[in-house]
Amino acid sequence: MKRYFIAGNWKMYKTIGEAVSLAADLREKLAGCGEKLMIAPPFTALKAVGDVLAGSNILLGAQNMGPEELGAHTGEVSVLMLKDVGVSVVILGHSERRHTYGENDQLINRKVRLALQHGLEVILCIGETLEEREAGRLEEVIRTQLEGGLAGVGIEQLSRVTLAYEPVWAIGTGRNATPEDADAVHAFCRRVIAQLYSQEAAASITIQYGGSVKPENAAALMAKPNIDGALVGGASLKAESFVPIARFR
Ligand code: PGA
Repeated sequence: MKRYFIAGNWKMYKTIGEAVSLAADLREKLAGCGEKLMIAPPFTALKAVGDVLAGSNILLGAQNMGPEELGAHTGEVSVLMLKDVGVSVVILGHSERRHTYGENDQLINRKVRLALQHGLEVILCIGETLEEREAGRLEEVIRTQLEGGLAGVGIEQLSRVTLAYEPVWAIGTGRNATPEDADAVHAFCRRVIAQLYSQEAAASITIQYGGSVKPENAAALMAKPNIDGALVGGASLKAESFVPIARFR
């Protein structure tokens, strides 16, 4: 049976105390859930949340990472530091990093390769803006982000990469892509992966959908053949909305 990858991205929300309390609640309520699960608290709460999750079925994720192992990089957090606190998955190329903080495919690619070299799993986010979609540039944008983000990533490392298709116009807006539209973009991603790697790699790569996933639309999205999970922002901030998404079936 297909195992979905349901991940929560807490963004810049939650103090340590709030994060620990939500993580403890999720640990209890998601015990026995058979999906692959991850939550990504803010950096300041990683250690405390990692302690709460130890021995559970929920992986500890980080929301970003610096492009170098160490050095004079004021304000960055290194892959070594993430591993030190027990992070096993890192979200890279989130649209807020791309559009608010100016990250380009080249920078994202350095992070992707570094994370993979160090044994982490990567969730590589891709997605078009409304302007790009309306200008008919959807496929060009997705292809460029995939080729750029995955440059130099070998096929043996690709098994540790999850793609997250997150149309920028659907993030935090309450307006999700229809399951049909999302599925079509996921199918396009598989075609690009088949060209870059192999048919087998294209068939086996996990592709999450992200952008206003909620308990009400999760099952319909997950029912689509090319959708293998969800990257959840707003609805991951409360157990009452994240738990039913993770337990959508
Ligand atoms: P949203 O965010 O679920 O609040 O739309 C998704 C994301 O940014 O990963």
